[in-house]
Amino acid sequence: MSSPARTASPEHIAVAPNEPPIVDVQGLWTQFGKGAETFTVHQDLNFTVQRGEMLSLVGGSGTGKTVLLRQILGLARPTRGQVTVLGRPASEMGREGAASRVGMLFQHGALFSAFNVLDNVAFALREQGTLPADLVRDAALVKLQMVGLQPEHASRMPADLSGGMVKRVALARALIMDPPLLLLDEPTAGLDPNSADEFCALLRELRASLGLTVVMVTHDLDTLFALSTRVAVLADKKVIVTGPPHEVAHFQHPFIEHFFMGERGQRAMAPVQAPVPATGQAAAPPSVPEAAPTPHKENP
Ligand SMILES: Nc1ncnc2c1ncn2[C@@H]1O[C@H](COP(=O)(O)OP(=O)(O)OP(=O)(O)O)[C@@H](O)[C@H]1O
Ligand SMILES: [Mg+2]
Repeated sequence: MSSPARTASPEHIAVAPNEPPIVDVQGLWTQFGKGAETFTVHQDLNFTVQRGEMLSLVGGSGTGKTVLLRQILGLARPTRGQVTVLGRPASEMGREGAASRVGMLFQHGALFSAFNVLDNVAFALREQGTLPADLVRDAALVKLQMVGLQPEHASRMPADLSGGMVKRVALARALIMDPPLLLLDEPTAGLDPNSADEFCALLRELRASLGLTVVMVTHDLDTLFALSTRVAVLADKKVIVTGPPHEVAHFQHPFIEHFFMGERGQRAMAPVQAPVPATGQAAAPPSVPEAAPTPHKENP
């Protein structure tokens, strides 16, 4: 059943539509393999994310959502095209630069199993080597508190944590360098409904209190409706449409019909009366990148 925590609309947070985008992906091609074995994952894919947005990327399995997040993080290079993050090419950020600019919650938790909670959270700050050990430890404890964990959890090993706690530790780790941009790959996957609700509530709170810009991949419609100011749909190797969740849900495409109009989609959409546009103005119609380029695309 859809729960109130995940079906409420996201809080009003000022989105900055007229500033240069925080994430700008233009003419992106991603291909793997060589010669006759080459397969194309993204083909001339475009989208932008403005400051303060909480953009959800949805698409079928294997459509290249995780690859796209890795490209935004600078961990993977596109075959062609530009991925610009906070005004700089993502591929030039380097590991340290990436951690202070972009936090990533990986799809499968991805904690270091040999490190305790504190050492997992502190990892990027410790690697940077600019702060003394006691300050690194304090910073990690602050982040643990921020995600709702207690100091006594700091010495636990990942294997001894619940699924919800693993996600919280991974989130604390993603936020250790106070990045303005957070990437979430399936943040509520594998959690029971209660833990998923709690994690959504935490993400909403942190997004509001830290003023984060968030790009999230999710298959979970409750999570999508609770958190997204905008949705981008990946299909046919590109972003076929972006817009507020309730408008994108009515866009005609086989994937969208299957994704939103199934029983789960209807249930997730039902309790919400009207979409809350992120800008606080009347909701614009969903934009179709190829048919109606955004103003930014016209004036790069
Ligand atoms: N380094 C790589 N080398 C070769 N193929 C890759 C590589 N990384 C990803 N792929 C392929 O690219 C495609 C997209 O993968 P990706 O993990 O981004 O999908 P996804 O949309 O995140 O799927 P899911 O919803 O199942 O997580 C898949 O076919 C995957 O096997
Ligand atoms: Mg994935």
